[in-house]
Formats: sequence, structure tokens, C-alpha cells
Amino acid sequence: MMKTILVMNGPNLNLLGTREPEKYGDKTLADLEALCSETAKKHQYSVNFFQSNHEGQLIEKIHEAGKLFKAGQLKGVVFNPGAYTHTSIALHDAIAGVGGLPVIEVHISNVYAREAFRHQSYVSPVAVGVLAGFGVAGYSMAIEALVARP
Ligand code: DQA
Repeated sequence: MMKTILVMNGPNLNLLGTREPEKYGDKTLADLEALCSETAKKHQYSVNFFQSNHEGQLIEKIHEAGKLFKAGQLKGVVFNPGAYTHTSIALHDAIAGVGGLPVIEVHISNVYAREAFRHQSYVSPVAVGVLAGFGVAGYSMAIEALVARP
């Protein structure tokens, strides 16, 4: 197994740092990526990053990740699907469709302490686990969780 993890971020997460800092904190996407690299490095893993505001691009990245996983080149995916979490049957189907790809769903905020429309996730049923409410540290925890998987 080549030791690589994919960290994927969905819509509006490119705005981290300036976007509603009271909910998402003041760390930028670059800060988040640096944190992920640091955590992964401790376990001799490397990280690939992908952020997109487009649902189709996220779907295509999942397809690609599924192939890399099957080829033994990827350990799994840490995925914050942003608002697509709550709307995208297509992302659910992509994860289910590639078969076996371990995806850990991450949310910076505690979505369950927020509006009711954030309480439903189409991604959770096809994720191996979910982390919400721990800020950007949640990404680091998700990497630890992936690394710990056999
Ligand atoms: C989010 C929570 C979502 O409800 C929201 O649409 C986001 C960010 C989070 O990280 O807390 O874009 O996924």
C-alpha cells in the first residue's frame, strides 16, 4: 500500500479563514492543508489535496480515488462535502458506486447544533465514520483514524 491519503473539500471551503469565522474559525484552507500534511507525515503518509465548488468535479475525484484505492495506491479519503453533504444523492452514489473506498466525513462545525437542514447527511450512510464540531483539528483526527485502519 502506497501511503497516500486524499483530503477533499467541497464548496465554499476555499473561503476558510474569512468565511463566517465564528462558525468555521480563522484558519485558512492552506493552514488546514499544512496541519493535514504534518499529521500524515508523523505516520509516514503523504497527502493529496482537492477542493472544488463543483459537484461534478467532486464526483469525478471520488471515481479517481476509487481506482487508486483498488490499485493499492490510496489509503482512503477525508472528505468535507460542505453543503453538498445535505443535498447530494449523486455524491452518495459515487462513494457507494466505486465500492470499498474508505471515506471519513468531516465537518468543521457541529452540524447537529445548527439548522435542521444540516442534520441530514447523504454522505454519512456511505462513510466509515463522521467527525463534526472539532474545527480544523477534525481533519487531523480523521487522518489518524484512516491510518489506524488495517
Ligand atoms: C460544513 C457544514 C455544512 O453544513 C456547510 O454547508 C459547510 C461547512 C462544516 O465543515 O462545518 O459548507 O461542512
